Amino acid sequence: MRYNLIVQKKECDYMLKDEILKLKKEKNAIILAHFYQHDEVQDIADFVGDSLALSRKAASTDADVIVFCGVYFMAETAKILSPDKMVLLPKQNALCNMAAMISYDALKKYKEEHPERKIVTYVNTRAEIKALSDIIVTSSNAEKIMKNFEGEKIMYTPDKNLGLYLRDKLGYDIEVWPGHCYIHDRLTINDVKELRKKYPNAEVLIHPEAPLEVLKQADYVGSTKGILDYATNSEAKDFVIGTDKGILHALRKQNPEKNFHILSHGLSCFNMKRIKLEDVLDALKYDQHQIEVDPDIAARAKRALDEMLRLS
Ligand code: 13P
Ligand code: SF4
Repeated sequence: MRYNLIVQKKECDYMLKDEILKLKKEKNAIILAHFYQHDEVQDIADFVGDSLALSRKAASTDADVIVFCGVYFMAETAKILSPDKMVLLPKQNALCNMAAMISYDALKKYKEEHPERKIVTYVNTRAEIKALSDIIVTSSNAEKIMKNFEGEKIMYTPDKNLGLYLRDKLGYDIEVWPGHCYIHDRLTINDVKELRKKYPNAEVLIHPEAPLEVLKQADYVGSTKGILDYATNSEAKDFVIGTDKGILHALRKQNPEKNFHILSHGLSCFNMKRIKLEDVLDALKYDQHQIEVDPDIAARAKRALDEMLRLS
């Protein structure tokens, strides 16, 4: 019975993939996917990457339609960088919880009260927050970009963990917004201790959205792409991975001879997992759900994003 269900699911995925590829060609569309997407969604994508690489791809593609398999802020960033393209997010309610932890009014008020602070904003935010910011960063370029602000006073929004990590590493005057990612923020020193006991020869690789005390236990801290590159280039055979389990697909595909263990079973972003192959097909078939951004906000947000692309 279970075997039949697996065969049926495989046949169904096969038909869906076929239809997606046909429609993609007809519409001159490109499918972009983040590493946290379901395995089969990553496999149908033209390009799989971290936030920075996906932004770059969105800015440079000559496709007419971008189907963005990720969360809302990623598709919105693609639309801001490629305003003439149709950008589709296959599930309208795929929203990043962290992006909801900062509001336009609160940041505007903070800016009025602290005009001396440069606003450095994580890409995991809505367009109106980017519009209020001096520059945008992602987890893979934050440290490099921050070095251009040495000696300045900074407000880092909205991820307190990445902000505190940068403050600890660089020693700059950085205030942090009290936002966080619900899956990375739950990681504890104990999680690392337990997995180190279980896999004593493993290297521990953690995303910088985790709390600082946990990051201090890691052998490597970096973005999803940073983790993938580190594991690929390392001599080690075993790795403990401290980020969303979706990344295991790319890690195992690229390193079939190595072993990857997830640091905590809670590491699965619910919103990233909303998009299924059926949704990708519907997006292409019915042009749903199109991303639109207010032109004034988009122009201001684009300045901060362009500055990021220039400095990264
Ligand atoms: P990356 O830029 O490292 O892919 O991270 C995106 C993200 O949302 C992490 O939670
Ligand atoms: Fe947002 Fe966290 Fe999900 Fe990344 S993993 S999209 S930061 S909620």
